[in-house]
Amino acid sequence: MGPQAVRFGILGCSSVARRRSIPALLAQPGAALAAVASRDPEKAKAIAAELGCAATGYDELLTRDDVDAVYLPLPTALHVPWGLKVLAAGKHLLLEKPSATSADGARQLVRAAADRGLVLRENFTFPHHAQHATVARLLAEGRLGQLRSFSGAFCFPPLPATDIRYDAALGGGSLLDAGVYPIRAAQLLLGDDLTVAGSSLRVDGRTGVDVAGHALLVSAAGVLADVKFGFEHTYGASYTLWGSTARLTVDRAFTPPATWQPVLRIEEQDHTEEHVLPAGDQWSAAIASFTTAVAAGHHAGHPAEAAGLRSMVRTMELVEDVMRAATRVAA
Ligand SMILES: NC(=O)c1ccc[n+]([C@@H]2O[C@H](COP(=O)([O-])OP(=O)(O)OC[C@H]3O[C@@H](n4cnc5c(N)ncnc54)[C@H](OP(=O)(O)O)[C@@H]3O)[C@@H](O)[C@H]2O)c1
Repeated sequence: MGPQAVRFGILGCSSVARRRSIPALLAQPGAALAAVASRDPEKAKAIAAELGCAATGYDELLTRDDVDAVYLPLPTALHVPWGLKVLAAGKHLLLEKPSATSADGARQLVRAAADRGLVLRENFTFPHHAQHATVARLLAEGRLGQLRSFSGAFCFPPLPATDIRYDAALGGGSLLDAGVYPIRAAQLLLGDDLTVAGSSLRVDGRTGVDVAGHALLVSAAGVLADVKFGFEHTYGASYTLWGSTARLTVDRAFTPPATWQPVLRIEEQDHTEEHVLPAGDQWSAAIASFTTAVAAGHHAGHPAEAAGLRSMVRTMELVEDVMRAATRVAA
């Protein structure tokens, strides 16, 4: 922890907080952990004792003077109501993805953060891995010729029946949980001005949530994109960019472990090459980027934050369009 470290409170002792974000935060010189909050006081106490910080309830966390910023990993439907409370309390907000269950919810958060002069970041960590900047550079250099299509997927096996992702009232479903990754990757590489041309969702009759789906999108420049997502597949998290002269594939695109050395595969008519890139810790990089923005005095109205927040809202607009366009079939 550095002298000017951003002091975090954790709102909800969630699985991703404990597995990923808290370890990344504790390892970060620009960050310090002040308190963890849970609905269950005993759970908060046990975790706080393990981590050497204070234990609180949700509302109490927001009144603490030793908390500068809140990391919020609640179920998705609670992101906007609790995110607005965090911002109203004058704390910077690192919010788990997706930002909201609607575009209007995402816009409300941006407005509230801008009004209060606070940093608001959606914790998509994959864009913080340098492998995607390498892909963008190869694309800009014309390594693939003219780009014709993007194809991205994020799928994994079924979860326990009690998981928040099977609860529609908590913002469950594979589009909001997994589909947002390839959608955001398409935005990153093709631009935010994508439109939705069609979609299908496989809906589970018991829970009412979509457990798989796909969508077709098209960029303003006429590049075609398709995304697949689901909770009923073997694991896969990849994308392929297909150009007029070559095809580039990124495997482990969204959740590479910090020790994973990414391999970019470029295929042409007469040969294939593989570029092994340095490993990168996207979880630490995301926290570092957030604490740097706070330390630099940025806020949601600052020009440096504009592109990220525009993409955050655009993802939710695209999610809404995917839902509207969807042909629904029984899973
Ligand atoms: N960035 C990423 O790579 C990534 C990865 C995984 C998940 N996520 C996102 O993080 C969020 C949490 O996911 P998770 O897998 O960590 O979920 P989780 O383990 O189920 O945790 C959710 C936490 O929210 C709190 N909570 C408050 N009200 C709740 C309610 N009515 N039902 C259930 N929990 C409630 C609970 O904390 P207390 O019991 O302590 O109050 C619970 O531990 C989701 O929005 C998800 O999309 C992001």
